[in-house]
Amino acid sequence: MKAAVIHSYGPVADVVTVGEVPAPAVGPRDVLIEARAAGVNPIDHLIAKGFMQPEGLAQARVLGNEVAGVVAAVGDAVTGFAVGDQVFARVDPQLGAAFAEFVAVDESLVAAKPASISFEEAASLPLVALTAWQALTEQSQLLAGQRVLIHGGAGGVGAAAIQIAKHLGAEVVTTVSADSVELVRGLGADQVVDYRSEKFEEVVAPVDVVLDTVGGDTQDRSFALLKPGGTLVSIVFIPDVEAKKAQWGVQASAFFMHPDGAQLARIAELVASGELRPVVQTVLPLDRAADALTQVERGRARGRTVLSIPS
Ligand SMILES: NC(=O)c1ccc[n+]([C@@H]2O[C@H](COP(=O)([O-])OP(=O)(O)OC[C@H]3O[C@@H](n4cnc5c(N)ncnc54)[C@H](OP(=O)(O)O)[C@@H]3O)[C@@H](O)[C@H]2O)c1
Repeated sequence: MKAAVIHSYGPVADVVTVGEVPAPAVGPRDVLIEARAAGVNPIDHLIAKGFMQPEGLAQARVLGNEVAGVVAAVGDAVTGFAVGDQVFARVDPQLGAAFAEFVAVDESLVAAKPASISFEEAASLPLVALTAWQALTEQSQLLAGQRVLIHGGAGGVGAAAIQIAKHLGAEVVTTVSADSVELVRGLGADQVVDYRSEKFEEVVAPVDVVLDTVGGDTQDRSFALLKPGGTLVSIVFIPDVEAKKAQWGVQASAFFMHPDGAQLARIAELVASGELRPVVQTVLPLDRAADALTQVERGRARGRTVLSIPS
């Protein structure tokens, strides 16, 4: 089958190629998905560069972390899916391998694709929507009536988080650059701050929750905006987290999202009800995986970048 692979770690343009690799084995609990589209995330270019991979690569590695497609086969123990079902999934982070014509995924990570959206739109959702869902429900327990500040509202996680926070009944403040103001207003943001022309800490009233997708100075300046006992949840690194919690009298945590088919089914319900809409910025064919990764690497997202995979 055709797939986007690396044989060594390094800059995307040097190491990412598209070629033939063996199709994945189908374990007893696996759903084999004939992929129609795969979402491209910052983690994909980081993996290509060897981020958090202390060992060199022993064998070719297929990139990619989320997929939408049609079930082509199921393992003997699979009960929830059948050949022909349209599905989507955030794949096992240890296995990756979604930039490929066929992807084997444990059925516990798979959900039925919402019928109202395309495969490209469906492939853009699992990783970012699960991240946003887990940040706002598991990590920070955002409640109706609370105020949340979501940094990077036009990015993959931010755009999903704005909509999920509105679904939860929160008031949403978000930071973007000027060319994304209309986009995030359309997603439901109540207050939009152009972070390049304004200091958000000077124009935003205290919030109950901060969702930090940016880190660094943006994260540092956000602590002062939290109400006493508020929560900062980060999807990037928090240096000196215990000291920050003590200094500001708040909760703070950084976390890695986890794949979860049941939560993804909940996200599919939000899509079906019109409360969560995918925002796809660019669709490129699988053959152009390196270009797609380079676009995501620039970090100026206004929606998602997706690979289309012809059947
Ligand atoms: N921990 C986890 O489980 C997890 C899961 C998913 C992602 N992540 C990480 O979270 C980060 C965001 O992921 P993503 O998929 O949302 O990335 P993305 O789609 O590339 O979006 C990044 C967004 O951040 C905006 N941005 C950059 N600097 C900013 C600033 N100072 N203030 C406000 N917005 C700013 C960018 O837009 P403009 O600069 O044009 O405004 C862009 O829209 C990445 O580092 C990713 O690796 C972690």
